[in-house]
Amino acid sequence: MISPKKYARPNKLLPKGFKTANEFFNYLFNDPDLIWMGQNTNHLHHETGVMEAMEASINEKDYCKYPPPEGFPRLKELIMDDLGLGSEYDILVTAGATESLYLSTNDILDPVNNTITCDPGYLIIDNFASRFGDHVKSIPIYNPECGFKLTPELVRENLDANTKLISLVDPLNPLGSSYTKEERKDFKDIAEDHDIYLLHDITYRDFAREHELLAKIAPEHTITVYSFSKSYGMAGMRIGSIIGMPEVINSIRSIVINDLGTNIVAQKGAIAAIETKKEWIGKIKGTTRQNQEIIKQAVDQVEGAYLPVYPSDANMMVIDMIDTGVKPHEMAEYLIDRKIFAREGSYTSKLFGHRYLRVSFSIPTTQVEYFAECFLEGMEDLR
Ligand SMILES: Cc1ncc(COP(=O)(O)O)c(C=O)c1O
Repeated sequence: MISPKKYARPNKLLPKGFKTANEFFNYLFNDPDLIWMGQNTNHLHHETGVMEAMEASINEKDYCKYPPPEGFPRLKELIMDDLGLGSEYDILVTAGATESLYLSTNDILDPVNNTITCDPGYLIIDNFASRFGDHVKSIPIYNPECGFKLTPELVRENLDANTKLISLVDPLNPLGSSYTKEERKDFKDIAEDHDIYLLHDITYRDFAREHELLAKIAPEHTITVYSFSKSYGMAGMRIGSIIGMPEVINSIRSIVINDLGTNIVAQKGAIAAIETKKEWIGKIKGTTRQNQEIIKQAVDQVEGAYLPVYPSDANMMVIDMIDTGVKPHEMAEYLIDRKIFAREGSYTSKLFGHRYLRVSFSIPTTQVEYFAECFLEGMEDLR
């Protein structure tokens, strides 16, 4: 008999008519007209050479072979250059930030340890941390006093002798909040004073107005989690990496899952994506900034709705609608009928999910305008 697992799970509501999450996602995936605002994916790339690099790899029949198990050296080098990190750091290519998060929690946590995360937040980190450590302290941060983020003060109030890991998703999914220089310095002090690791998930870094790697400030106490899913627009290729000091990365080498390496075609695409980044990143940042303004203008017209964090430093934001009388899942279902995929809050929060809808906006501006129109109509219809 297999006993049910106790680990933290996101509180996902299934839209009506779907029996499983997989059935729902399969439906979404197969609708070519769907506007994709539900998973922070990026649909703004056109000519980045990524497709050509992947096609060339397939034509070469690269897929018959296994790749070097830790990633092509060229890709590792490009990621380190992108981050401005030198040879004192080490790196492994992984099948996405998800695998990196799993490896970090597995490696750092002993069964007595606890992890500090936040709510709202990226809940799979809570799930992984609860598998390997004793428990997770998920700190409520949905309030303006803490700036809708896990602050150093909140961490200090909640840590104890068994705290070993602090999860800092920066900028934060779902709110788009990010850190100041002083806060980063404070985190360094906490990590060093208490010998705690900072799990720095920088999946949305490229969308931020300003960003600094904790790896540069607190190298011995930081693990950096990197993804090709968002700014690079390669979510379906499942590729990312994990970066840290050699001591940590060597320890992770002993627990890797994909010891035969990460998808070759994805790696070839990722190489092209970084090599061409200077050509496209400015445009993508510009469009996402402009797109959030359109959403703000629509939200401002609805009494009772507001944006807790604006501007967002990520490619997604939260629309609080608790005072409108419309429930986020009702709006999400309404939007699906209008061919827009957005996410009700329960996907990223246990405590505050009933308050908000999360929308990502790295999509063409015309689609964001259509969303704004449907959101306003939805508010009228559902109230
Ligand atoms: C904070 C955060 N980390 C990691 C991921 C997953 O990244 P990947 O697709 O590289 O596994 C996501 C996806 O939404 C995310 O929001």
